[in-house]
Amino acid sequence: MARIKVFRCRICGDPYIGTEAPTQCPFCGASQRFFIEANEWNPNEFNVKLSDITQKNLKAALQLELDNASFYDCAKKTADSLDDEYAIAKFKALMKVEREHASAISKFLKISRPELEKQACNADSKANSKEGYEREERAIKAYAKFRDEAVEPRLKEFFSALVEIETDHLDLHAEDSK
Ligand SMILES: [Fe+2]
Ligand SMILES: [Fe+2]
Repeated sequence: MARIKVFRCRICGDPYIGTEAPTQCPFCGASQRFFIEANEWNPNEFNVKLSDITQKNLKAALQLELDNASFYDCAKKTADSLDDEYAIAKFKALMKVEREHASAISKFLKISRPELEKQACNADSKANSKEGYEREERAIKAYAKFRDEAVEPRLKEFFSALVEIETDHLDLHAEDSK
């Protein structure tokens, strides 16, 4: 049997225990290639000197993530009230991933993650998937711009990973909006 090991995700920093790294980070959704073994972790991964533009972009990204996490939280509650098990699982997972993104961004900004503020959503899960699609589309556009504007290689990498993750979410919503 393969040996059980400790890994860490370089996008959110969270540790993971398994015989191999997961295909997608269970916390932030980043792809397997961002995992390293725990003893290879660079303690300064989130300690990057930030340019003014990156600082500004990270703050905008934080707001987007907090808004989307709250929206998904509302969508999950709507799904709860409809006993829609698929939508409950999907929106709960999305809420947790977006909240994790807000946490990772907060680490770069050296602040503690702000609390989620209540967001409104729609009365059914299909409409929430449609709105989710639009929200992810906006996030992807913003993060692609932030990636291109970042002068720090680490932040270019971070925003690229977010583009990739939010694209997975977009694909999921596209399936569920049919
Ligand atoms: Fe992660
Ligand atoms: Fe996100």
